[in-house]
Amino acid sequence: MDLFTAMKERRSCRNFLPEPVDEATIEKILEAATWAPSPLNSQPWEFRVVTNKEIKEKIFSEGERCRKWALEKSGWKWLGSYTLDFLKSAPAIIAVIGDPKKSGVDMFAEEGPMGYQAACAAAIQNMHLAAHALGLSSLWFTLFDKKALREILDIAPEKMPLALVCLGKPVSLPPPVPRKEGKEKTTYIR
Ligand SMILES: Cc1cc2nc3c(=O)[nH]c(=O)nc-3n(C[C@H](O)[C@H](O)[C@H](O)COP(=O)(O)O)c2cc1C
Repeated sequence: MDLFTAMKERRSCRNFLPEPVDEATIEKILEAATWAPSPLNSQPWEFRVVTNKEIKEKIFSEGERCRKWALEKSGWKWLGSYTLDFLKSAPAIIAVIGDPKKSGVDMFAEEGPMGYQAACAAAIQNMHLAAHALGLSSLWFTLFDKKALREILDIAPEKMPLALVCLGKPVSLPPPVPRKEGKEKTTYIR
């Protein structure tokens, strides 16, 4: 699949079929992740592939707890009807975990280490594009408390769970979400 087509056609999926994703496909998606750039080629990511029903239920409960918390904090009405059932129905969920120590020179920056997050985000995007090219759909999910997710997935306290990538075949996909044109967001300094 042409890269530009993949970038434009990929959609966030929130409604998955139960059909499992085979391990060879998951490995291909993870291989795509590892080709992302990273500071000093530190490759600051690790992955947990969750297909276990009980663990997915725990992730769902944590998501629900966070959704209610976010609704109360923000008052955003859409959070009241935002259903997280996809966390139970997605046949595979890949947790992407970053290592703040692998942030390159940026680990000494006043703002704190950010390079590892940028690298993990690049890896996550590669995963979405690879999944799409392989005929799967995916979702970048972040509505969880990091401490709670560390407990659920047995992640060391010094590591940072950054995202859950839900994977599977879609029941249906939402229509494309419109984008502003690049030129609206761009200033040339000539
Ligand atoms: C950093 C990040 C966090 C996100 N977190 C969530 C999330 O917690 N739940 C969710 O449903 N979608 C989440 N998304 C997906 C966005 O809502 C989605 O990409 C955006 O609305 C554009 O839609 P599209 O991906 O279909 O083009 C996240 C995306 C990014 C990049």
